[in-house]
Formats: sequence, C-alpha cells, structure tokens
Amino acid sequence: MQMEAANVRGMDNAGAVAEADVVVLCVPFEHLTSVTGDLRDFYQSQIVISPVVPMIYNGRFFQFNPPAEGSAAMLARSLLPEGVRVVSAFHTICAAALQDRERVMKGDAFICSDEAEAIDITAELAGEIKSLRPLKAGPLAASPMVESLTPFLLNVARKNKIKNAGIAVISS
Ligand SMILES: NC(=O)c1ccc[n+]([C@@H]2O[C@H](COP(=O)([O-])OP(=O)(O)OC[C@H]3O[C@@H](n4cnc5c(N)ncnc54)[C@H](OP(=O)(O)O)[C@@H]3O)[C@@H](O)[C@H]2O)c1
Repeated sequence: MQMEAANVRGMDNAGAVAEADVVVLCVPFEHLTSVTGDLRDFYQSQIVISPVVPMIYNGRFFQFNPPAEGSAAMLARSLLPEGVRVVSAFHTICAAALQDRERVMKGDAFICSDEAEAIDITAELAGEIKSLRPLKAGPLAASPMVESLTPFLLNVARKNKIKNAGIAVISS
C-alpha cells in the first residue's frame, strides 16, 4: 500500500489551536473545559468539531449525562469566542474502526451546527477520512439528540455482542 507523506508536527494545545483552521475536541468530557474555556484567548474563527459525549455508566447501562447547557457542544459554544464556528459530529463513529486503514465504514456521520459552511467542511472531512456518509442533523440546539445516540449504541452493542457498532439511516 502506498503511504502519502504526512505533515505532522507536535506542539502544545494553545499553539495548535492558534494555528489551526479546524480543531477537533477529541478529549473526554471532563477535559472539555480545559481545551475550550482555558484556551479561549487562542481561538478566533476556527471551526471547532466536538465528538465529545457526556455519559456515565450507572452500573447497569450507559446513560447520557449532559451538562446544564444541554450538550457537550453547547457547553463548548458557551465557553468559546463568538467568531468560532462550533460543530457537533462523529459521536457514533467507532474510534477503533477509524484507526483501521483497511476497514470500510458503513455508518453515517451526523452533523449539527448553526453554520452552513462549517457543516460543509465537516462533511467533506467525513468523506475524506473513511467515505463516511455525512448527514445534516439540525442546528447546534439539536446536538443533545446526536450525543445521546452514543450511550444508546453502546447499550445495544453490549447487550447484543456487536463489535464496532455504528448507526446508518436507511431508506426503504
Ligand atoms: N472512542 C470512541 O470510539 C468514541 C466514539 C465517539 C465519540 N467519542 C468521544 O471522543 C472523545 C475522545 O474519546 P477517546 O475514546 O479517544 O478518549 P481517550 O482515549 O480517553 O482520550 C483521548 C485523548 O484525550 C487526550 N486528553 C486527555 N486530557 C486532555 C487534556 N486535558 N488536554 C488535551 N488532551 C487531553 C488524551 O491525551 P493523552 O494521551 O496525552 O493523555 C487522549 O489522547 C470523548 O469525548 C468520547 O466521548 C469516542
């Protein structure tokens, strides 16, 4: 397999945010505030994509556990400067499957945002990453519904022993 030359550099979070056009907040929910609010001064007009899922395991099943703002993406929105374009996406995409270069992904990538251009750029990225099918799922205010699909999916996968589960919308 031919590998394309990668352009990868290491830097601290503040430097990476300041230089980026698109920031992906791929951190556990408990660190969302530190990569948004604490770094507020380094954000300007970036597109910020949140795949973050606030959830807990209550001893019996996974449960959506959103902050007072309604969702992780809405919390990020409240902590970031006005000019930043927040997108909520990729919550139902399995990280292990993403890392397997050979694997064809069958799931859909649901995208919520108030910014049309940011939705289009996120959709393009989804297609580039793994030919995922990007689907618009509404404004950022709809992001709690998309985030809550992850604990639902984990419960279904666990109860039915499905590995690398995803969600695809069908048309019959
Ligand atoms: N895993 C999945 O399949 C999946 C699917 C959909 C959505 N998500 C969401 O994606 C997010 C990341 O999930 P994950 O499974 O990749 O979690 P993870 O492996 O526990 O953490 C991801 C990364 O977050 C970094 N991190 C931790 N604290 C940080 C901080 N204060 N500042 C900057 N980076 C920090 C860690 O860096 P270090 O390695 O340096 O500690 C780690 O590389 C979560 O919000 C999760 O809900 C995950």
